[in-house]
Amino acid sequence: MIKGVIFDLDGVLVSTDKLHYLAWKRLAQDLGITDFTEQDNARQRGVSRMASLQVVLEKSNHSYTDQEKIDFAERKNQYYVELLESLTEKAILPNAAETIVLLRKKNIQIAVGSVSKNAPAILQRTGLLPLIDKVGCGLDIIRSKPDPEVFLIAAKKLGQNPKNCLVVEDSEAGIQAAKAAEMKSLALGPEKENPLADYHAVSLADPSINWDMIIAS
Ligand code: BG6
Ligand code: MG
Repeated sequence: MIKGVIFDLDGVLVSTDKLHYLAWKRLAQDLGITDFTEQDNARQRGVSRMASLQVVLEKSNHSYTDQEKIDFAERKNQYYVELLESLTEKAILPNAAETIVLLRKKNIQIAVGSVSKNAPAILQRTGLLPLIDKVGCGLDIIRSKPDPEVFLIAAKKLGQNPKNCLVVEDSEAGIQAAKAAEMKSLALGPEKENPLADYHAVSLADPSINWDMIIAS
């Protein structure tokens, strides 16, 4: 029986992929990397800021010190935060807010489980925050997905047993984290990208999602 649903944020509730891409691309250009593409950006989905930086630096011939890498990640975040200033409720993905409202009516508790340190600001800017019971985010954790830490923290904040929680995710690292947390999972996107998930849908607007069946599982 599902009593809590933990939503990933980026790519599940809110469309931020493009903004992450633009910020990483700007950093890549600063470093003389001209061939950073949206395909590279897809590999950054769901993983930590430092792991995402590694995807950019794979395209560089230079080797950088740990301090330089920390500075680069901070610089990318400044670029990203600048872009987030223009974020509004228009960035909420189709049927995301409606899904949360529907689940709340079914007495399901709602959490966000995101490795982003910007998650609270994104929820605030998009107006989603009042719909969420608890937020687990990058500020709460030491280990990023695929480690289950962020989902276990979200379940603990909800006061729910992980076995009674469902994770909604768009990334492979996130589905692996849900499995490691012993939670059920609904993967959004092409089914072949996340064969490990218990349920699949194209997006939260997919009419094939049977919430009553999922909740009863
Ligand atoms: C995840 C995104 O939600 O958050 C990743 O999918 C991102 O692409 C990660 O790297 C960390 O986000 P932030 O905002 O703390 O840099
Ligand atoms: Mg995501």
